[in-house]
This record gives sequence, structure tokens and C-alpha cells, in this order.
Amino acid sequence: MRRSKIAGLGFYVPEKVITNHDLEKIMDTSDEWIQERTGIKERRFYDPDSDTVANMGVKAAEIAIERAGIKKDDIDFIIMATLSPDYCFPGSGVLVQKEMGLDNIGALDVRNQCSGFIYSLAIADNFIRTGVYNNVLVIGSEIHSSGLDLTTRGRNVSVIFGDGAGAAVISPETNEGKGILVNHLHSQGEFAEELAVINPGSSGKERLTVDMVKNAEIFPYMNGNHVFKHAVTRMPEAIMEALETTGKSFEDIDLIIPHQANARITEFIAKKFGLGKDKVVSNIHKYGNTTAASIPIAMTEAWEEGRIKEGSLVCLTAFGSGFTWASSLIQY
Ligand code: UT7
Repeated sequence: MRRSKIAGLGFYVPEKVITNHDLEKIMDTSDEWIQERTGIKERRFYDPDSDTVANMGVKAAEIAIERAGIKKDDIDFIIMATLSPDYCFPGSGVLVQKEMGLDNIGALDVRNQCSGFIYSLAIADNFIRTGVYNNVLVIGSEIHSSGLDLTTRGRNVSVIFGDGAGAAVISPETNEGKGILVNHLHSQGEFAEELAVINPGSSGKERLTVDMVKNAEIFPYMNGNHVFKHAVTRMPEAIMEALETTGKSFEDIDLIIPHQANARITEFIAKKFGLGKDKVVSNIHKYGNTTAASIPIAMTEAWEEGRIKEGSLVCLTAFGSGFTWASSLIQY
């Protein structure tokens, strides 16, 4: 059976570092609260003069393509995961196609928030398994900072998010038993409004009104406790699903790379499976929650640090707005 593999990984984060102390200057919060509740010390904010969702993705993609040992013209298809596209439409995938000068290949935008990277990986995996494409570029890229309520009113949401991009090249795996073994994708739309930006939206009487802006409706809303409770249930469930489907046990796992939503969620997952910190990746202290970019950034760093090597069994899992959640099990 033809399988796919992650042939190359890369990431890019904007240069501007925003520490918790920087946030203390613009809202009523504290470094102590943020670190204790989330594990975050700092995050990156984009430079409006130079960074775009698409070009940050391109920077990450160029590294991934080089590491995959291919040329950019070998890319057959682009999948762009983002909840913060450069424009309302078209999606940012086509902007990646333009910036990379790729010859009219297809570009798909995926709107699955924190699970966006795994959803995109699953789509790429199926295109490769079925022989449609040979090299698919998957990008997760987000600019949150231009859409956050950076006042005390929005502090419960704003302190956790950061900007960044990660990318992966997905190519055929030629070794038996290796590659992306299985993906599981889930959603529960009954909780769509528990973590959302509802306005400006298309189905109201008017798409955007002055009142929406005045009432801060244009910023993300999150029922933090509710999201937290579901995250700590659904991510372990998705990991178990991956293990059960493949007949593996959690002792076989070398590394879990969870979506970086909150260090306490990551610690909960480690505890649940009795795994030490060395087996569960956490880099949220440096970048905050970068949504669709968080897994490819964390995965790239883990690979660069030698934590993913030949023979490693790696499990990705994510949970977020939708609600959506997902897992991928990958044998290196
Ligand atoms: O990536 C998508 C998935 N997202 C997640 O998985 C996020 C899940 N949720 C969380 O990580 C947590 O719910 C948060 C980190 C967002 C919030 O932590 P929490 O422990 O659930 O805090 P809380 O919302 O229950 O608020 C506790 C207190 C409140 O004050 P009172 O009512 O107890 O007086 C808040 O007003 O903390 C206050 N608070 C803050 N204080 C200082 C909320 N945000 C802040 C802040 N700084 N930034």
C-alpha cells in the first residue's frame, strides 16, 4: 500500500517578541497569572510592514522544501491551514502560490482552526496514497495579533495567542510500515460558538456594523473553562483511537506533539499516559498558541533537536474551535 511521509519541515516566527511584561503595560494582567495558568512567557507579534499570513507560510515552506531535498517546482499542490487569512476571500493558499511562483498548481484553504494542520495533513496523505500527487505542501500560518482585544476586556483570550507559521512537505513513503499510519478527524458543531469570531459574518442582516466594533464583537470569544475541559478529554481520546486502529500501545510512542494551547493541557496529556516531559513536546512558553501553526512549529523544533529520528513513532493531536479535534500517527 502506498503511504505518505513528512519529507521536510520548517517554521518561521516574526522577530518581534512580546513578553508577559509587555502585556502588563497595556492591560490588567500579570506575568505570574499568565505563566501559572498557561505556561506562556512570551509570544511573537507580526510586523505589519513586512509579515503576511502568506509570506510567513512561504518562509516556513522554503525551509521545508530544502529539507525535503526537492525543488519548489516539484510541489504539486498547496494546502493552507489558517483561521486568519490575509483577505476575507480569496484564501491565502493562492497568495502562497503566487509568492512562490508555482506554476498554476491547485491551492486549498482549510478552516479548521487549531486542528487545521492535522486536517490538512490528512488531506495531503490521501492525495498521495491515491497517487493523485507526489509532493504536497502543507502550511499552517496565523496572524492573531491584529485581531485581538489587547485591553483588559479581552485579556482572558488575548494573552494566549501569538503569530507564526510552520510547513511540511508530504511525499510518498517507499519503506514498508513507515510513514503516516493513520489520521482521525472529528467535529462537534454544537459548541461552535464556544470559541469563535462570529462577526463580521455573512448571515446577519448586515455583515459589519459600527455597533459590532463598539461592542467588541469582532474579537474572538472563548469560554475558556469549557474549552479546557473538552481539550483534555478529546486529545487523549484521539491518541487512543490512533493506537487502537494501528494495534500500537502508548509504550510504543516516542513523542507526542500536541497542539500548543496551554501548558497545563499538555501536562495533563503527559500525566494521563504516564509519559515523562521528554516524550511530550511543549514550546508554548516561547510562542503562545499559534493555532494552525503550533503543531508544525513544535514538530520542526523537535526534529531540529533530534527528538524525531529514524524509527520514532510520533503522535500528533489537536483540539480547538469548532469544536474540532484530530490525531495522526507517524512512523519515521
Ligand atoms: O487553542 C484552542 C483551544 N484553546 C484552549 O484550549 C484554551 C483552553 N482554556 C484555557 O487555557 C484557560 O481557560 C485560560 C488560560 C484561557 C483561562 O484560564 P482559567 O484558569 O480557565 O481562568 P478563568 O477564565 O477561569 O479566569 C480566572 C480568573 C478570573 O477572575 P475572577 O473571576 O476569578 O476574579 C478572570 O477574570 O482570572 C481572571 N483572568 C485574568 N487575570 C489576569 C482572566 N484572564 C486573565 C489575565 N490576567 N490575562
